[in-house]
Amino acid sequence: MEFQLYKIALSTVYLICLFLSLPNLPLKVACDVSEAQAFLIWKSSIHIKTKPLLASWSKTKTSPCSWFGVSCNDAGRVTGINLAGSGLNGTLQNFPFSSFPNLVHLNLSMNELFGSIPPQISQLYNLIYLDLSTNRFSGEIPSSIGLLTHLEILNLSENQLSDSIPEELGQLRSLDKLFLHNNNLHGVVPSSLDNLSKLTHLHLYNNPLSGSIPPELDRRLYERSYHELWNNQYSDKVHGPGGGRQPPAGV
Ligand SMILES: *[C@@H]1O[C@H](CO)[C@@H](O)[C@H](O)[C@H]1NC(C)=O
Ligand SMILES: *[C@@H]1O[C@H](CO)[C@@H](O)[C@H](O)[C@H]1NC(C)=O
Ligand SMILES: *[C@@H]1O[C@H](CO)[C@@H](O)[C@H](O)[C@H]1NC(C)=O
Repeated sequence: MEFQLYKIALSTVYLICLFLSLPNLPLKVACDVSEAQAFLIWKSSIHIKTKPLLASWSKTKTSPCSWFGVSCNDAGRVTGINLAGSGLNGTLQNFPFSSFPNLVHLNLSMNELFGSIPPQISQLYNLIYLDLSTNRFSGEIPSSIGLLTHLEILNLSENQLSDSIPEELGQLRSLDKLFLHNNNLHGVVPSSLDNLSKLTHLHLYNNPLSGSIPPELDRRLYERSYHELWNNQYSDKVHGPGGGRQPPAGV
């Protein structure tokens, strides 16, 4: 109850910030406080083993820009969160996605995060790098990730993600690297991935997927990075004789 009220209060502050963040208005501090408070809400919902993180993420500081793992732009807005390998044990259910519209880089890899990846992650619409690899995330990959059209790197590998690969990933036109290996993804690889014209690296191995890599994508990956393609084979069915290509001897 108290928590809900706190959240409502915060969203109100945030809306006011958005509404009033016109040039030359001295509201930067108020907005920073809301980003800091948003972090603290999430922090209070997870277990943390890292001492620097515990020490620097504190209620007494009004701006999170000096906090461990946080980087900001010149305007003092949070643009990067790198808490890879920080001993975080918990979920993203209370992660304040809507508080970080300027976030470009989110790296939470190598922690003990579990539960589903909330669909609200699509609120980080300026995100370019998203690395949630090597955690214990489960459930489906939210189709709303397809709204993060600036993404260049998406690494969800080494989790326990299940269900099929959402067709919406085909909307990620800027995507360069897509790593989904070592999960429990099944079904066919959606043909929409043919639209990923900038993709150079695709890792799908160690998933119970069926079918084959969409033909256009297969051709482009083959032209761009043959060795990677060999690494990317996720089952004999995909690049078996007649289907895909075999690596030359010695690769
Ligand atoms: C995330 O952090 C880990 C550990 O520092 C690093 O190896 C990895 O490259 C980072 N991911 C991205 C997308 O930069
Ligand atoms: C994560 O925290 C929970 C307590 O909520 C604990 O039971 C569990 O063992 C922790 N997991 C790891 C891997 O430390
Ligand atoms: C996740 O994959 C990206 C894209 O290849 C890579 O840059 C990053 O280092 C990977 N993360 C880790 C923790 O290895």
